[in-house]
Amino acid sequence: MSFLFEKKTEHETLCEAAIKAGRTAEAVFHAAKAADFSFALARQTGGRVAERYLAVAESWLDIAERLRAQPFPSALSASPRGYSSPSALSASPRGEGVSEASAADAEFEIAEKPSVSFSDIAGMADAKAAIFDMVVHPVREPEKARALKLKPGGGVLLYGPPGTGKTMLGKAIAHEIDAPFFYASGAQIRSKWHGESEQRLSRLIQSAASRPVSVLFLDEVDGLLPRRASGSSVVDNRIVTQFLADIGGFRESANILLLLGATNKPWEIDEAVFRTGRFDEKIYIGLPDAAARLGLLRIHLSGVPLQEAFDFDAWTARLDGFTGSDIVGLVHDAKRSTLRRSIQDGGEPVITHGDLEQALATIPSSVTDRMLKQYEQFRQQRFG
Ligand SMILES: Nc1ncnc2c1ncn2[C@@H]1O[C@H](COP(=O)(O)OP(=O)(O)O)[C@@H](O)[C@H]1O
Ligand SMILES: [Mg+2]
Repeated sequence: MSFLFEKKTEHETLCEAAIKAGRTAEAVFHAAKAADFSFALARQTGGRVAERYLAVAESWLDIAERLRAQPFPSALSASPRGYSSPSALSASPRGEGVSEASAADAEFEIAEKPSVSFSDIAGMADAKAAIFDMVVHPVREPEKARALKLKPGGGVLLYGPPGTGKTMLGKAIAHEIDAPFFYASGAQIRSKWHGESEQRLSRLIQSAASRPVSVLFLDEVDGLLPRRASGSSVVDNRIVTQFLADIGGFRESANILLLLGATNKPWEIDEAVFRTGRFDEKIYIGLPDAAARLGLLRIHLSGVPLQEAFDFDAWTARLDGFTGSDIVGLVHDAKRSTLRRSIQDGGEPVITHGDLEQALATIPSSVTDRMLKQYEQFRQQRFG
């Protein structure tokens, strides 16, 4: 939980800095992230505290929206980190309005490669291998793929409990291949686009599909393409129908679109989405196994002073049942208490078993057996 809090604070700070520097696109990004983490905190807490986080999340969304309403081109060219695509920039001279399609490009195309790569992700050997086969190899080696008459493209849906690294894995693909990468998260889109979600999603798909090769990562697909039902909103029904039409139409194109989805709640996705054949591969991302837990500990404790005879194996065993996100949070917590202790007693900051022990006492594992059963049941019923 303190990990979420830390991320929230980080994005709040970055957002404020970006606003000061006039980098609007970047500010919008961080405001939305701050809102995401506040929502996550609200979900993890309860009562009054949750209410406060919800209010904070709401106000960050509000800020994001107001920032977005500002003139676009100047904000884009002022952004050194480049959340915009060069093509969108050159197509729109300063001061002129940006066309809707290139605005969608600029908004969702990740021009700067994320720093996270496959090597930062512990475990998930099967998922990584499947993604390499479907997504990475055909794009890296198009000649060989063509020789084999292997039509690249297709889709992968990553599903499983929250905090298991699905978003991280999806984003890491941008790092691995040299192709335009579009990222949009369901919750974000729905809250920002209000009544026009389906047109905006449609434009996003078209932007991606207009490139010879591109990757479109739809995170939190459940929020974007919820189950249509007689009782559900007109908007929900429309957005799913529109998505099916856009994705269906794309099949005829010679361009290559790699569709990637991630969700914690696969049962909330409209069933027709699976029938389009676009998510040919469904990969369950479960709790990290022992090797992955050891990897997580090593990644986050490497180069950090540890007590003598620090027992990685014992901690790997102790953390069975914890998600990747839990483990990262736990290590962060232990680091903070180590720092506090070393400031108090003037000693060297060295992480001990006791520090981790203390952190463990305050952070329960976030996934229950009941949740895991739910995924298993879903897998058997729907993909079995
Ligand atoms: N297998 C993993 N390897 C490394 N870090 C992980 C892993 N799983 C989770 N994490 C950590 O947990 C955080 C949250 O993971 P995230 O990708 O947002 O989970 P999900 O999308 O499945 O809910 C990541 O940013 C990362 O720090
Ligand atoms: Mg996620």
